[in-house]
Amino acid sequence: MKVTLITGASSGIGEAFARRLAAEKHNLVLVARSEKALHELCDELMLKHKIFAHYVVLDLAEPDPDLRLLEEVKKHDLEVDWLINNAGFGSVGDFAKLEIDRELQMIELNISALVTITHAFLQGMRERKRGTIINVSSAAGFQPIPFMATYAATKAFVSSFSEAIAEENKPYGIQILALCPGSTKTNFFAASNIDRPIQVKGQQTVKDVVETGMRAVASGRTKVVSGVVNKIGAMMGKFTPNFISRRLMAKVLRSRFQK
Ligand SMILES: NC(=O)c1ccc[n+]([C@@H]2O[C@H](COP(=O)([O-])OP(=O)(O)OC[C@H]3O[C@@H](n4cnc5c(N)ncnc54)[C@H](OP(=O)(O)O)[C@@H]3O)[C@@H](O)[C@H]2O)c1
Repeated sequence: MKVTLITGASSGIGEAFARRLAAEKHNLVLVARSEKALHELCDELMLKHKIFAHYVVLDLAEPDPDLRLLEEVKKHDLEVDWLINNAGFGSVGDFAKLEIDRELQMIELNISALVTITHAFLQGMRERKRGTIINVSSAAGFQPIPFMATYAATKAFVSSFSEAIAEENKPYGIQILALCPGSTKTNFFAASNIDRPIQVKGQQTVKDVVETGMRAVASGRTKVVSGVVNKIGAMMGKFTPNFISRRLMAKVLRSRFQK
């Protein structure tokens, strides 16, 4: 059976992708750590849309998350046709004062898990000459961001990596998209210990972000920024030299994080 595997599906953008794709009759494998939320979502979507929905409770920041997911897929005789690498979190603050273990955990989740899981499921997609991968990156990845240094760097990696492998896999009929949301109303800020979003004006909803992603997949794009305000921000980030944008960001954020 063909399925769509979504990481970080227990809330926010991942949950919204699950809802949207279930309505389009995708069968689902949902992954996160919160068992209750996954269980309830699977039950609801199976009942409402008459689809197959399975969940896997897994901490993706632990080593070898791909092995458990491959095992689950094999056990239930599933084919991962769509993969949405969405699980992630961030941090803000003066890097020297942040908990290093948490920063490393972020790198494990935002980068290592995404790379490992993509590699694992690309093999089957290549054999079948078909597949879609959406890697949830961020508008934060367009430039270095002082006081959000690790998070912005993880998302720069996700975008660069996704764009590169998108080209490698075009001859195999596999589409890969880097989806770059800006500030979006989710649990992200609480989960990332951020007391208030840096950008509140123009915050998007999860539905806006998912719509952008779905439209980009339909039109065969490789990278998309969600939202007009974020598109303008990303363009400015692209055309403003880093030494200017990083100094501006530092100026704005220093008073908040270096007292
Ligand atoms: N919200 C924004 O403003 C924004 C902007 C740009 C990009 N993004 C990106 O969008 C993605 C989704 O975030 P969101 O905004 O939807 O936030 P969210 O509501 O906090 O969702 C994050 C998801 O990731 C899962 N997750 C976190 N740590 C995990 C772990 N160690 N193992 C497995 N799953 C884990 C969470 O589930 P459990 O806690 O149940 O494990 C949850 O389902 C992230 O990659 C984020 O960087 C968000």
